[in-house]
Amino acid sequence: MTENSRQVICLDGPSGVGKGTICLAVAEHLGWHILDSGSLYRITALQFSRKFPEREVSTVDESQLVDIACNLSVSYLQENHHLVILLDGENVTGIIRNEKIGAIASQIATIPLVRDALLARQRAFLQAPGLVADGRDMGTVVFPHSVLKIYLTASPEERAQRRYKQLKDKGIGVSLSSLVEALRQRDDRDMNRKTAPLKPASDAIVIDTTRLTIEQVTDEVMSWVLQRVSIA
Ligand code: C5P
Repeated sequence: MTENSRQVICLDGPSGVGKGTICLAVAEHLGWHILDSGSLYRITALQFSRKFPEREVSTVDESQLVDIACNLSVSYLQENHHLVILLDGENVTGIIRNEKIGAIASQIATIPLVRDALLARQRAFLQAPGLVADGRDMGTVVFPHSVLKIYLTASPEERAQRRYKQLKDKGIGVSLSSLVEALRQRDDRDMNRKTAPLKPASDAIVIDTTRLTIEQVTDEVMSWVLQRVSIA
């Protein structure tokens, strides 16, 4: 382990806790790189759904999923406080966020060979001066020696409520109860899978965001960053 390999801040937790927004804010503050690891699972899911329309994940040979994960031609641009995600040059930032792709991603993410296929790609994001990594297993598996591990939580009802508001603001109508149910299913798969289940690392700082605004969470995370991280 080099000292540089410690220059990673891990932000783990279930969906809907604001990891993406906080990750971007911290990375911009420090001038560090970003890893949105969930997007790699989502892009794998998108490619799967395009290659095998109408098929269930469980009906496809694992080697074909690994093949998809190994051959993603993906690039990221940080623009105007947003992360733009390109797949073979196509902007897929919006498409990969839909609920269906999220559900497929969490099924694909239970397959150990797919996780292995994405591991080196995730670690390659660590470049000087440092990396802020967002996901489920950043602190437990991908960057176990990171200098700071934060685990964000919030009740499923609160997370569904936040998602409901986001979709409503975009003019997309869904029922709150269906969002709660989908979140519970995704949490269940993410927390109970055998490989790299979602859980706080033993040395993680756990922050319950249920009653906090995104600004309050960002401030709390930044106060930990300033205590732990040596900024050149
Ligand atoms: O974070 P996001 O909601 O984009 O992740 C989509 C799915 O990808 C998650 O529900 C999870 O199943 C999977 N994932 C994972 N490990 C990560 C990041 C995401 O298993 N580090």
